[in-house]
Amino acid sequence: MGCFTCTGASGTEPTDKNTRNKPNKEKPTAAESRPDSEKEKSDPSGKVKQPELKEEVPKDKQVYLDTNELELKDIYKDGKPVGKQAQTFTFDELTAATGNFRSDCFLGEGGFGKVYKGHLEKMNQVVAIKQLDRNGLQGTKEFVVEVAMLSLVDHPNLVKLIGFCAERDQRLLVYEYMPLGSLETHLHDLPRNRKALDWNSRMKIAAGAARGLEYLHNKMKPPIIYRDLKCSNILLGEGYHPKLSDFGLAKVGPSGDQTHVSTRVMGTYGYCAPDYAMTGQLTFKSDIYSFGVVLLELISGRKAYDPLKERKEQYLVAWARPLFRDRKKFSLMVDPMLQGQYPVRGLYQALAIAAMCVQEQPNMRPAISDVVTALNYLSSQNYEPSVHSSGSSRISSPRATTKETGGRVSTSSE
Ligand SMILES: Nc1ncnc2c1ncn2[C@@H]1O[C@H](COP(=O)(O)OP(=O)(O)OP(=O)(O)O)[C@@H](O)[C@H]1O
Ligand SMILES: [Mg+2]
Repeated sequence: MGCFTCTGASGTEPTDKNTRNKPNKEKPTAAESRPDSEKEKSDPSGKVKQPELKEEVPKDKQVYLDTNELELKDIYKDGKPVGKQAQTFTFDELTAATGNFRSDCFLGEGGFGKVYKGHLEKMNQVVAIKQLDRNGLQGTKEFVVEVAMLSLVDHPNLVKLIGFCAERDQRLLVYEYMPLGSLETHLHDLPRNRKALDWNSRMKIAAGAARGLEYLHNKMKPPIIYRDLKCSNILLGEGYHPKLSDFGLAKVGPSGDQTHVSTRVMGTYGYCAPDYAMTGQLTFKSDIYSFGVVLLELISGRKAYDPLKERKEQYLVAWARPLFRDRKKFSLMVDPMLQGQYPVRGLYQALAIAAMCVQEQPNMRPAISDVVTALNYLSSQNYEPSVHSSGSSRISSPRATTKETGGRVSTSSE
């Protein structure tokens, strides 16, 4: 095993378990509820070919199932091979990659398990390895099928799933490594030596994350409802290039017990749409709500849920709603870390998009494609602090108007 220094830039602190989800398989995801016909494999002339599965193996024997027998080959769509096939790794390979899951390779821990930085000898690639908690794991076949599906997802704003290990009772996922870690660590509780994100980076991150979500909602077949969009799941590459991580993980992760079911339904505090919390019914519009919360975090620098704040301000959306109604208060919503370096028009537009996304009524929230259009425009308007005076001093002369039409966002400059 080669010596490998695991000095990742991402947060190394374990996540706060109180504000994290635990997985729950009770509520169907979009992928879960898709018709059986879509799940079926097809040949090169047909749709997506799923891995060939051998006959049912009793649960107690599944631990010995060799994933090589699952014939993870030849995934075709419209007669052409699509994406790269998920690679399988042995547990020994991943142990070697992480120096036996050494503590200095530890990147953090979420609701599904621990994440380590590793170096894969055979590919000479630095990766992030997520070791799923072994509690309540699904069988090998189901895991492999879902992972094979997820590894087909290929978009510049989605973290690439490189492969997996399903050996005995071990379940590990191997992802591309994102060197700047999560957005959360660039927005909240910054260490002294870390610079606050500037306005342009924030808007570029928002636009990129929206494009990733648009791909999951509109381009994936079957569509994927993300269900756990939050700052810690937006990972950053060089130049703060954002990618969404952990989509589809609810399907492959451990199912958890009854207690975890309810916490999972509630989602992560502060990000969960009220309609989803009340009915447990997951829709694309629940993702839009969570996206709106992330956008508000980017604008305000506040956390989605902050138990250290006074009661009225603990939930970001509850704090923001009354302020949305009064233009004079818009400047109060801007992250003080920006030190007034933001475009007033851009702020109005960004707040308008966020306000639309976090509306109580799901049908009033915009579709992701409209959010992408608005944010692509906003992020293309490069703000140069040197040629603008302090944003906060210009707040009384807004030029941007926002229109609301049946849940559609439209920003225009007049
Ligand atoms: N591909 C990756 N590259 C770099 N760091 C990663 C990668 N994936 C996860 N991490 C880091 O590992 C830590 C834990 O991530 P993880 O996804 O397990 O938890 P989470 O996002 O906080 O919660 P959840 O389980 O709900 O997604 C985070 O700090 C994250 O930044
Ligand atoms: Mg995550």
